[in-house]
Amino acid sequence: MGCTALACTAALLLLLLPPCASDDRIVPGKPLSPGATIVSEDGSFALGFFSPSSSTPAKLYLGIWYNDIPKFTVVWVANQDAPVTNTTSPAPTLSLEANSSDLVLSDGADGRAVWRTNVTSVPPSTPASPTGVAAVLLNNGDLVIRSPNGTTLWQSFEHPADTLLPGMKIRIKYKTRAGERLVSWKGPGDPSPGSFSFGGDPDRILQLFLWNGTRPVMRSAPWTGYMVASQYQPANTSGLVYVVFVSTEEEIYLTYSLSDGAPHTRYVLTYSGEYQLQSWNRSETAWSVLGEWPTGPCSRYGHCGANGYCDSTDAVPTCKCLDGFEPTSTEEWSGGVFSRGCGRNEALRCGDGFLALAGMKTPDGFRRVGNRTLEECAAECSRNCSCVAYAYADLRLSSSTSTGDTTRCLVWAGELIDTAKMGDGVTGSDTLYLRIAGLRSRSGERAKSNALKIALPAVLTSSVLLLAGISLAWFKFKGKIGNGKRRMKLILDELGERNPGQEFELLFVRFDDIVAATRNFSEAYKIGQGGFGKVYMVTSSFVSCFL
Ligand SMILES: *[C@@H]1O[C@H](CO)[C@@H](O)[C@H](O)[C@H]1NC(C)=O
Ligand SMILES: *[C@@H]1O[C@H](CO)[C@@H](O)[C@H](O)[C@H]1NC(C)=O
Ligand SMILES: *[C@@H]1O[C@H](CO)[C@@H](O)[C@H](O)[C@H]1NC(C)=O
Ligand SMILES: *[C@@H]1O[C@H](CO)[C@@H](O)[C@H](O)[C@H]1NC(C)=O
Ligand SMILES: *[C@@H]1O[C@H](CO)[C@@H](O)[C@H](O)[C@H]1NC(C)=O
Ligand SMILES: *[C@@H]1O[C@H](CO)[C@@H](O)[C@H](O)[C@H]1NC(C)=O
Ligand SMILES: *[C@@H]1O[C@H](CO)[C@@H](O)[C@H](O)[C@H]1NC(C)=O
Ligand SMILES: *[C@@H]1O[C@H](CO)[C@@H](O)[C@H](O)[C@H]1NC(C)=O
Ligand SMILES: *[C@@H]1O[C@H](CO)[C@@H](O)[C@H](O)[C@H]1NC(C)=O
Repeated sequence: MGCTALACTAALLLLLLPPCASDDRIVPGKPLSPGATIVSEDGSFALGFFSPSSSTPAKLYLGIWYNDIPKFTVVWVANQDAPVTNTTSPAPTLSLEANSSDLVLSDGADGRAVWRTNVTSVPPSTPASPTGVAAVLLNNGDLVIRSPNGTTLWQSFEHPADTLLPGMKIRIKYKTRAGERLVSWKGPGDPSPGSFSFGGDPDRILQLFLWNGTRPVMRSAPWTGYMVASQYQPANTSGLVYVVFVSTEEEIYLTYSLSDGAPHTRYVLTYSGEYQLQSWNRSETAWSVLGEWPTGPCSRYGHCGANGYCDSTDAVPTCKCLDGFEPTSTEEWSGGVFSRGCGRNEALRCGDGFLALAGMKTPDGFRRVGNRTLEECAAECSRNCSCVAYAYADLRLSSSTSTGDTTRCLVWAGELIDTAKMGDGVTGSDTLYLRIAGLRSRSGERAKSNALKIALPAVLTSSVLLLAGISLAWFKFKGKIGNGKRRMKLILDELGERNPGQEFELLFVRFDDIVAATRNFSEAYKIGQGGFGKVYMVTSSFVSCFL
């Protein structure tokens, strides 16, 4: 299993294992040295120095790992690209500076700071009166520098390594387009930054990417306003994993949460470039992989070439050409080489109309036009002769409403890259309105085509489903996910396992309630409590967003 290769088979060596005084914090004047650890209050996580056994001469890293499972699994590394190499002379230390409130990792040999945090707002203090600042390792694995009044000055959750823990966020800020990214390790025992990364798209905001360097490996479907992206149940446990999208005034982020009873669960970007959902398997004492992406060649970015799409509703996902296109090279295409994609079988003219394709993962390279209704979005594309497609979503129920734009009109010009068919009503799918040569633009006078006959009822269904989805229905998804096989059962009920028999009942919830509830996540990282039970929307699985 790829998961374990990361940290487990790497046979990492813990420098010392004596049960040193396990406090959960570092305070000024009491530095942490190799061999000592601090442990979160509930014993789940530990912070300390570790050294991959494969490294000679030994390289020392400061990291956080699970403290209550027998397999050494690192979830965060501070000095990924600056290991301490001279471990013979005075030992390196991690200390909390009283004057700056920064954590500083100093090389013992020359006292040089090899890594330090960047606390910007420094609490008022003088060397004579210590501030009461502390670096605390929380029960969710977050290392937090807290000012005396309890505000968070810095936290490791905002500086992720290769692991996304429950409550962590992958954000994109609307203004600065900055946000967190997972970065893979270089190798199984080498925490230095590898070439793979995972995060929000800084150019177009609404989608996620897995990159190899700057090259996209995989792309999520553009966000359609869903809030619960997926739900998993680790086999043979009562726990559940919820993946959630939240959009606020400032940012949009992906996070996830565990219900009570769920085992340790993490997303990890492996050194070989897979994004995996892993869950601790107590009976096997190993990590079980609940999900892994990319899921196959067809799910890789642009695999089907320009104007091609991956039809993942087929038993074996296959490349096809979008309506109005045919393979650029029929021989290559039938031989399973899709890189040259598809070309138009008839040139477009300005007045051509649009064919609605439901259940699509819409292509990359869109331009978002602000503040448009569906009709205005259609008109925007229709009157611009270089516009070849558009898609629309209403984000009113999933975005903050008071100000700002809650419409999502996407338009495309030129080639359509990385399109897929996800299936009608699948979370994250859109209706793609594709301009077709010879199709009249008025809805009353449609040309006769087989595709159209199929597409029209589909549009209806899809908009109903989309509406239902946006109306925040809570479908409970019980899925067993592993090795590409999924069994799923949609049950509708309230969270908390109550009334399991009530199928397909829609529950309506206001966005504000959800935001209020999700704000709790980062602190409590559990949503199986309180008013959050009456939650939201359609679920199949994250697989659906990541074809
Ligand atoms: C803070 O204190 C450290 C020693 O504890 C010192 O090296 C550093 O220069 C001080 N920084 C400032 C800004 O005073
Ligand atoms: C390690 O540090 C000691 C003390 O500063 C120094 O004498 C020694 O040369 C260093 N070794 C290496 C390999 O840098
Ligand atoms: C701190 O900020 C400096 C300058 O902005 C940057 O070079 C450095 O990487 C930052 N360090 C951390 C740990 O974020
Ligand atoms: C807490 O302290 C920080 C600086 O240490 C300050 O910026 C913040 O305003 C304080 N918050 C409260 C509620 O006093
Ligand atoms: C990642 O990129 C490197 C360099 O471009 C390439 O050698 C490698 O095969 C790529 N790996 C994957 C899994 O795409
Ligand atoms: C643990 O692993 C075994 C064998 O792979 C599997 O049958 C079982 O369902 C797993 N349990 C959990 C909790 O994932
Ligand atoms: C499920 O868990 C029960 C009790 O923990 C155990 O007896 C059973 O063997 C497990 N089944 C599988 C398939 O792991
Ligand atoms: C037409 O679409 C192209 C491509 O999206 C865009 O660059 C151009 O500004 C649009 N023209 C008008 C008049 O909107
Ligand atoms: C959106 O358009 C309406 C009228 O078309 C206008 O009143 C409103 O201010 C616009 N909102 C934004 C955010 O541009």
